Amino acid sequence: MELEELPGIGKTTAEKLRDSGYLTIESVAAASLGELKDVGLGEASASKIIEAAKEAAGCMGFETGLDVLKKRELIGKLTTNSEQFNILMGGGIETQAITELYGKFGSGKTQVAHELSVTVQLPKNEGGLGGSAIYIDTENTFRPDRIQQMASALGLDSEEVLKNIHVARAYNSDHQMLLAEKASEIASEYDVRLVVVDSLTAHFRAEYTGRGTLAERQQKLNRLLHILQRRLSDPYNIAVVVTNQVMSRPDVMFGDPTVPIGGHIVGHTATFRVYLRKGKGDKRIARLIDSPNLPEGECIFEVTSDGVVDSK
Ligand code: GTP
Ligand code: MG
Repeated sequence: MELEELPGIGKTTAEKLRDSGYLTIESVAAASLGELKDVGLGEASASKIIEAAKEAAGCMGFETGLDVLKKRELIGKLTTNSEQFNILMGGGIETQAITELYGKFGSGKTQVAHELSVTVQLPKNEGGLGGSAIYIDTENTFRPDRIQQMASALGLDSEEVLKNIHVARAYNSDHQMLLAEKASEIASEYDVRLVVVDSLTAHFRAEYTGRGTLAERQQKLNRLLHILQRRLSDPYNIAVVVTNQVMSRPDVMFGDPTVPIGGHIVGHTATFRVYLRKGKGDKRIARLIDSPNLPEGECIFEVTSDGVVDSK
């Protein structure tokens, strides 16, 4: 459905919305009054348009507890290929959820994302989800040869595995939004079970630098996360995994001063937050920071030439 089909939206308004990155009815439905006023709409018409978009996007419906239960029964758990890591995550990386991997450079975020792009293709009885992966690569760090190594280590045909990973390079934050939308269009066609965004925040951080741009950055990041949750993860039973760098907070004197980028917005939307740290040699430490139903905890795994494995 095009924006123009909504009552109250003419051609010019639709153009204005699209120019500001509102490409779909859902994105308008998720917008706040203030955000649409920033686009240049009056308060009354902004409010009308949001309501109409909510109606059209079917966001206003209630479902029964039984419906919710049935949907939750479909949640899959994707193996990380490390038993310890799986246990930390309550059995694996969940579908119908966003899992954020955050940590410093070299902490293993991209390695874990690569591993999951392989394991998602395993059949369910081997810890996979029997589906394909979409990999949105913002830093040009997707390495097919690394996938081949990981696939071979699992006894898989590496060429077949590569064929089932749909990679797109995002050149800037706008492009990243478009690719997320595009991902939702191809998700069912390719039986996608995993969507990786590596990195979620790098472009945003680079593009929105001054203090005055922070609110705008957060709004846009919020929209992106909304697309990932409501248009990919929920409707298609997909595990969404996003990576996030950390920054050092100068005001933290004691304890670990590193905090993930994107702050509250990412924190509140991601269902699971995992903090990765480098240990000795190949060892990596994963700490589950935030989860609706699991205890906080830590585990150790390794990144070796075979990929993610249990620590010996
Ligand atoms: P940034 O994207 O820079 O923030 O870091 P990241 O967290 O994504 O790091 P990444 O997952 O790319 O980890 C890179 C590290 O993984 C390297 O420094 C190596 O320590 C390790 N690594 C990558 N490939 C191999 C490999 O084939 N064998 C071994 N033993 N380690 C590897
Ligand atoms: Mg990386």
